Amino acid sequence: MFFPKIRMRRLRRSESMRKLVRETALSVDDLVYPLFVREGKNLKQPIKSMAGCFHFSPDTIAAEAAEVAKLGIPAVLLFGLPKKKDDIGSEAWAENGVVQRAIGEIKKAVPQLLVITDICLCEYTSHGHCGVITNGKVDNDATCELLAKVALSHAQADADIVAPSDMMDGRVRYIREALEENGFHNVAIMSYAAKHASAFYGPFRSAAESAPSPAFTGTSLADRKTYQMDPANAYQAMAEIALDIEEGADIVMVKPALCYLDVIYRARQRFDCPIAAYNVSGEYMMVQSAAQAGLLDKNAAMIEMLYSIKRAGADIIITYFAKEAARQMQKSK
Ligand code: PBG
Repeated sequence: MFFPKIRMRRLRRSESMRKLVRETALSVDDLVYPLFVREGKNLKQPIKSMAGCFHFSPDTIAAEAAEVAKLGIPAVLLFGLPKKKDDIGSEAWAENGVVQRAIGEIKKAVPQLLVITDICLCEYTSHGHCGVITNGKVDNDATCELLAKVALSHAQADADIVAPSDMMDGRVRYIREALEENGFHNVAIMSYAAKHASAFYGPFRSAAESAPSPAFTGTSLADRKTYQMDPANAYQAMAEIALDIEEGADIVMVKPALCYLDVIYRARQRFDCPIAAYNVSGEYMMVQSAAQAGLLDKNAAMIEMLYSIKRAGADIIITYFAKEAARQMQKSK
């Protein structure tokens, strides 16, 4: 009946026409680049499990941060690998800890670059869980107290945004209270609010040396399912996000991104604060490995993936592709 009055292909006939009607715009302004910092000197070691990513030491990270800032990326997200681990992850709040020093180095070199820090214990505990273990269980409230100490120490070191990724109940409230009581009224909280127990964290866990200890095989501590969300749940994700906002989160995150685009979409419809999505290590490495095997065009797949996350409603995208995407965007201008 409508044919040929309506021909959808009219608006696809040239790149200029496609640009004119393009619904979603990617911007370097929305990207966050994760960085790994470990104890040592003069390090820039390639991470085996994550092509194109490196372990830096506090003395080399500022140069990398400067490169990130030069590309126009507004923020980095820091993960730390301490020199020693213990039962409670005490290096995580050490005044002279690896992340605390890295923040100082970055702020000295590139003060305008936002420094976001991951708040969790899994890289710092000898058993690899995101919290302390009491009587064979991850102890929620005891962990929250420690996380508040970690967040406070990062704020004291000059972090702009703290990002709790542990999934303990009530941790945003503990952190917000600790920040307020100590005068850090302007440190923002980006909570990993809807974080699922995902297989896609695999490459990160080898990079951050943060997997639960193999000694737990066959027990309820073998994985993170008692605190991270069941991948089948989306309504529960809304409840998690609502709680974190009420407890004082400024930005809420959905993680991972690709298998959870529906969760991002629902969150964007329902909440008014900025929504971040974490394009995690396994999603990154699926594209890197497929490209490496000659199966797809890396840049095109990367941009398509970022479009999908943005189209679903994410305001902020945390991605290991940030630098490559920024370069690609500059080229296509
Ligand atoms: C720490 C943390 C993890 C990631 C970010 N923070 C791993 C985990 O929960 O086991 C994953 C990031 C990625 O896969 O890129 N809790």
